[in-house]
Order: sequence, then C-alpha cells, then structure tokens
Amino acid sequence: MTYLFTSADEPGWLSRLFSKRWTRILFLLLAIPTLVAGAFGIYLWQRFSGDTAVEYADIEQHFKYGSTGGERESGFPYWIFQALPQICSEHLPGKGYASLGLIFEEGKDLPIGMSKRKFTGIDRTFLNCAVCHASTVRDSVQEKPRVYLGMPAMQLDIMGFEKFFFSCAADQKFAAEFIVPEARRLVRAQGGDLDLIDRYLVYPVAVALMRERLLMLAGRFSFVMNQPDWGPGRVDTFNSAKVIFNFPMHKIADAEKNAPADFPSIWLQAPRAGMQLHWDGNNTKVEERNKSAAFGTGTTPPTIDLKNIGRIEQWLLKKEPPKYPYPVDAAKSVRGAGLYKEYCADCHGASGRNFSGKAVGKVTPLQDIGTDRRRLDSYSYDLAVNQSTLYAGYPWRFQHFRKTNGYANMPLDGLWLRAPYLHNGSVPTLRDLLEPSARRPKVFYRGYDVYDPVKVGFKTNVAEEGARKYFKLDTEVPGNGNAGHEGRRFGTSLSIEDKESLVEFLKTF
Ligand code: HEC
Ligand code: HEC
Repeated sequence: MTYLFTSADEPGWLSRLFSKRWTRILFLLLAIPTLVAGAFGIYLWQRFSGDTAVEYADIEQHFKYGSTGGERESGFPYWIFQALPQICSEHLPGKGYASLGLIFEEGKDLPIGMSKRKFTGIDRTFLNCAVCHASTVRDSVQEKPRVYLGMPAMQLDIMGFEKFFFSCAADQKFAAEFIVPEARRLVRAQGGDLDLIDRYLVYPVAVALMRERLLMLAGRFSFVMNQPDWGPGRVDTFNSAKVIFNFPMHKIADAEKNAPADFPSIWLQAPRAGMQLHWDGNNTKVEERNKSAAFGTGTTPPTIDLKNIGRIEQWLLKKEPPKYPYPVDAAKSVRGAGLYKEYCADCHGASGRNFSGKAVGKVTPLQDIGTDRRRLDSYSYDLAVNQSTLYAGYPWRFQHFRKTNGYANMPLDGLWLRAPYLHNGSVPTLRDLLEPSARRPKVFYRGYDVYDPVKVGFKTNVAEEGARKYFKLDTEVPGNGNAGHEGRRFGTSLSIEDKESLVEFLKTF
C-alpha cells in the first residue's frame, strides 16, 4: 500500500491520480463500506458456519452426553428445547422433561442421552444411544438413584416425548413471541444474554422452522398417536422405521401394527458376533445393528458421526454388565445352576458370560415360543428389502436384514437389569416368568426404578411418585400379550423350590 502513496521521482498514473484530493475521498468512500461489509461477512461466516460437537475423551461420558451426529439434521435448537417445558407445560405429564422419564444427573443441563452441537450458528441438541440404553436403580424409595449404562431405559416414555413436541408445535404458544422471551430469560439466568441477531433473526427463524418441521413429522408419525400407549421403556421399533421409507402407514395391515418392543440391554457385543439378534433375530451383524440404531438418534447416511459411533461400538464390544448388588443364596444358586444347565443353557448360553450353546443366537419359531406375535409381524419382508437400500453407495450398505419366523434365543448377561421381561416387556419379574402365563400378573405398573430383589425386577405396584406417573401395562391390549415361553422346557412346571433356585442362579448373570 505504501507504494501507492509514495511520490516517486517519476510518478506512475496511480500516484498521479491519488495526488488529487477528490480521488482520495472517493477511494475512502468506496473502501470503507467494502471493508465493513467484508468484516461483517467474515463475522457472519464465523457465526453461522462451523460444526462443532461436544465430544468427551472418556467413553462413558461420551455415551451419556456426546454426539453421534444426529443434531445436524434433527437437532432442536438448545434454548428452544430448554424453553418448551415452560411454554407447553400443560402438554407434559408432570414437571419438566423428567416427567417423561428422562434422567438428569446433578449439575447437568441436559438429561442422559442428549448431546449438543453448534451447527449453523446455533447450539442444537438431540438424542444419542444412551437415551434408550441407560437407566437408574434405587435400593429403596429413600436411596439416590444409581445410573447404569447399557441397561434398557425402562423409565423413558419415548411416545410421550414425541407427543409432547408434536402437540406443543400445534399449540398457538409455539411462536417466537412466547418462546424467545422465555429462552432469553433462561440465558440471562446464567449470566449471558441473546444478542440482537439472536433475538430478532436467529431464534424467530429457528422457532418457525422447528414448528414446520415438527408439524410435518407429526403428520408422518401420526400412526403413533393412534396406537395404544407404549409406556416407558418401549418403542414400536420397526413401524417407526417404515416411516423413514415413506410407507403409507394407513395402508399397513392391522396385524403389522401395535408392536411395542422393550429397549434391550447392549453389553458384551463381541461374544454376540454372528448371532441373529434384535428381538426377532432379523440381523446377524453387530455393526449393522449399531448403524441401524443410529437412525433412532436422528442421523442419516451423510450426517452419521462414524468416528464417534465407532468409539461406542468398540466400547460395547467388551462392556460388562454391572454385577447384581444384593445378596445371593449360594446353596440355592448352585442348585439353580444345575437346573439352568438342564433346561435353559442350550438356548441362552452356558452362563451370564459364556454364551456357548447349540441354539444361542438362533431363532425359535413362533409356534414353539408362543409369545406375542406382533413384534415379529411388524417386521415385514417389504421393510427388510427397503432396509437393504440404506447406505446404498457406501461400503457399509446394509446386507444382513432378514425376515424371520420367531424370536431370538439371546444371551442373558445382566439379566437382573433387563426387567420387565420378554420382547414386549409384558412380564414384570423373573419369578413371574417362571409361572405359566395364566398365573403371571395381568396388569402392572412399569417405569419405577426401586428394585425388588425377591422376585428380581422392579417394583410394579407403584402408580406415581413425585413428578412421575407410572404406566399401567394391561396385558389384554394388542401387542402386550404375556403368553408364551411356558411349558416344561421353559421351566414353568418346576416345583416352587426349583423355581426359586433358578431365580437365585440367574441373579449371578
Ligand atoms: C429410540 C431408542 C433407541 C436409541 C436412541 C438407540 N436404540 Fe438401540 N435399540 C432400541 C430398540 C427398541 C432395540 C430393539 C429393537 C428390536 O428388536 O425391536 C435396540 C437394539 C439395539 C441393539 C441390538 C440389541 C440386541 O441384542 O438385540 C444394539 C446393539 C443397539 N440397539 C445399540 C444402539 C446404539 C449403539 C445406539 C446409538 C447409536 C442405539 N442403540 C440407539 C432402541 C434404541
Ligand atoms: C427353545 C429355546 C429356549 C429355552 C429352552 C428357554 N428359552 Fe428363554 N427365551 C427364548 C426366547 C426365544 C426368548 C425371547 C422370547 C420373546 O421375547 O418373545 C426367551 C426369553 C427369555 C427371557 C427374557 C429375556 C429378556 O431380556 O427379556 C428370560 C429371562 C429367559 N428366556 C429365561 C429362560 C430360562 C430361565 C429358561 C430355562 C428355564 C429358558 N429361558 C429356556 C428361548 C428359550
């Protein structure tokens, strides 16, 4: 620049031009707005570009609060998410997101299973694996809940979660004039503030886009609204998957509908390699089950965070289930071990850690197992074919989804944390599962985390506590049938003493 203004011995045409006062003024008049616009452009670019997720070096922290990529496409703007329980409080069953069974650890702003990412200039939050695969246990009402990772999220009412957002979006209060001031109040309570651009541009636009998007999804997922409540700990896995492929849900055969499935535990994936898993055994590949699960966290083939899913995958290969923390009667357990070997080991593995057995990871046909058939029927051949198009063009295109004819014989590691039992969670405790279906509870409450070490499962006679109302599961409702897994080979005709011994041994899994 200095060169332009030096008056050299033989001035060039530029210097001659700049020696005139008016040209200098004109230059400044043109340059300043250009510089300002440029600087503003850089500011906007910095503000609205960038894509940074919250990542944790510690894998357990990452599992609980880290990203798997879903916030990019499906993320809720963070401050809107935080404002909604206040804006739409009448659409929640109790106070805050905790009333939907989301678990808040002390000092955390987001529940277990939600992660944060700054994307296009706005913090966003969405679900990760832990929302469906972590929960808590209390020894008694007074105790503090202990968090266990990898167990089924038996408290999470995910249908309630979906319904909350859909009905809130349809409410007239889902508007910038209500949401932005509440969001600002929350930000200021933390000592910050939303600046002018946030208040008058970013958040009003975000509210409008989120509303549009939720109403669109509400339309696509309207089949959910017409189903009987799943209650906490369950989701109609594969009917939800049909929505991704734009199946016309109103034309789906009734027999395929109403198929709530319990969230499973996900420990020790390495020794499960090659097994037919998912409740109906529809997939033999651990990696595909993980990537397919990632759709539940809002990812799509281009947005999935393979590095972080990979870290979780690696961790789950060897992640051991937590040990049973209550006393076990050693003598009874030894006796139970013998019975287990005789009746159960072929299908469920030699023990809670040794999964060998001639039928483990294979499917028992429906006519032999006799449990509720809806989850099996919900997974249709058409869906299997469509799933094979997922990740088409990527090296990890799905190739292992199959239609089966029954339910999978799965390993029973960490069994004590997997209550209620069976694929639809229709049997509250292990002791109940060893009774013929006519003697299993017909109605019980789900979602309560106080443990029952006698029957082995969660207490099921509590209807509400604090902000939570528990879910009354009625086994007469379609999809909730509690029949099956009964008869001699399933242990339901053993003596009371034998049944108690078997339960004692299963505590060690
Ligand atoms: C919305 C809830 C939800 C989320 C989120 C979710 N899962 Fe799952 N997961 C399920 C359900 C339900 C099943 C059982 C599906 C069935 O068979 O019906 C399952 C099954 C699995 C299985 C197979 C278990 C077995 O042995 O049959 C694995 C492994 C798994 N999930 C891992 C993950 C991982 C890893 C993530 C995160 C990338 C994840 N899940 C996110 C609900 C969820
Ligand atoms: C012929 C194979 C077979 C035999 C024998 C068998 N089971 Fe099962 N078991 C299954 C299948 C299949 C399921 C899944 C059924 C469903 O969810 O609809 C199952 C489910 C279970 C579950 C529920 C797991 C969960 O996470 O909800 C438990 C517990 C169980 N079995 C225990 C036993 C015990 C104890 C014995 C022996 C007394 C036994 N099983 C014998 C095949 C078998």
